[in-house]
Amino acid sequence: MSTAQTTDVDLDAIDVLDARWFADGTPHELFARMRAEAPVRWNPLPDGTGCWSVTRHADVSAISRDTETFSSYKAGIFLHPDQVVGLDLTRNLLLYMDPPQHTKYRLILQKAFTPHTVQALEDGIRARVTKTLDRIVEAGSCDVVDDIAVPIPLGVLTELMGVPEEDIAEFYTWTEEIEAAQRAPEPNAAAEVFVKMAGYLHGQIERQAAEGNEDSLVMKLRAAEVDGEKLTDPEILVFFGLLAFAGNDTTRNTLANGLHALLEHPDQLQELVEDPSLIPGAVEEILRYTSVVRWFVRTATTDTELGGQSIREGDRVVMWYASASFDDEVFDEPTRFDIHRVKPEHKAFGGGGRHFCLGAGLARAELRIALEEITRRLRDLQPAGPVERLPSSWANGLVHFPVTFTPGARAGDTAA
Ligand code: HEM
Repeated sequence: MSTAQTTDVDLDAIDVLDARWFADGTPHELFARMRAEAPVRWNPLPDGTGCWSVTRHADVSAISRDTETFSSYKAGIFLHPDQVVGLDLTRNLLLYMDPPQHTKYRLILQKAFTPHTVQALEDGIRARVTKTLDRIVEAGSCDVVDDIAVPIPLGVLTELMGVPEEDIAEFYTWTEEIEAAQRAPEPNAAAEVFVKMAGYLHGQIERQAAEGNEDSLVMKLRAAEVDGEKLTDPEILVFFGLLAFAGNDTTRNTLANGLHALLEHPDQLQELVEDPSLIPGAVEEILRYTSVVRWFVRTATTDTELGGQSIREGDRVVMWYASASFDDEVFDEPTRFDIHRVKPEHKAFGGGGRHFCLGAGLARAELRIALEEITRRLRDLQPAGPVERLPSSWANGLVHFPVTFTPGARAGDTAA
């Protein structure tokens, strides 16, 4: 849908969740209009029902922080309660819990998933990035999605979970099926693959437990304890499933879209090449500018009021992170990509509060290290054709992104 349509359109009539609005990326003019004219608006859906669409930064924060009024548990976090897999299964995931259950699980998981865990992974992440770039650096061209953005987070995640290298390809096909199920028209589309993956991960957990390596995530999760409560092995299995679901495409889409943004702003890419100390700031701006998880849903547990609208118990509320990260009440010239913004309070990792992304530290480390190595090794990066986008309102993802660069040497060769 064109820019003209987004400026003239009747906001009362449109379904903003229709993927066609996102064919050219996030429709920022449309969201700017919604924030100004109808920040909490009723969005009609094709099945005759509807949901509330919330676009302002302050309202997204308010909903995220009020888990008593806005539940993740009641009907899940997608529009259909059984999207991806049935609610009976997903309710075991941290993402779908409300307090007090969420509080307990989150505390236990945080004990195993600490900043120290992330720090300990840094060498492994750099080795993974180096290996990934080694495969393409001599060729002088690649597809950013297939050759860079897919293998890095997938490799880090499988390493974190102790999945052996030879099983990564199969693991990849499962994560692709789960990703596709997020967009599938029929609910429960990933049921079969979840069972398959669970069977596999169960074997991995048993193997790692038998090996007893204290540094493995399985052993850390087994040891983590809050108020005398520990995770059972089935709960550890569920957490591994959550990591595969939450930590993979998100990081991939941020990296691919981030490189796209940098190639659209070559002066800023050049600044990173010349001064890598700017990279952590660039990562934050990339997170804001790409906001790859565009929305999640909450369900009202009681009648309430938001932005002058009466929300009824049971109403679904869509929090648009991709709009909140561009709210001009918070960000100066929000559609400008600017790696020099100071700590932009974006909503890429959620609206804040209890469900704030547990993997934010890991994602930031992956993005930083990937950019450090890419800017150092892939010189004269240029787009080599149009990008292909994922047909989705939910995920801001790229399917293909061809680039060229000056061929370089493999890391092993330069070190020699
Ligand atoms: C750039 C990459 C990432 C983005 C954009 C992202 C985005 C998000 C968002 C928006 C939420 C909030 C969900 C809600 O409020 O309902 C979330 C939660 C979560 N994320 Fe991430 N994520 C990323 C990377 C990761 C990674 C690498 C991991 C782990 C390996 C991870 C694990 C989780 C978990 C476990 C939760 C649930 C937290 C809870 O419910 O308490 N994420 N993420």
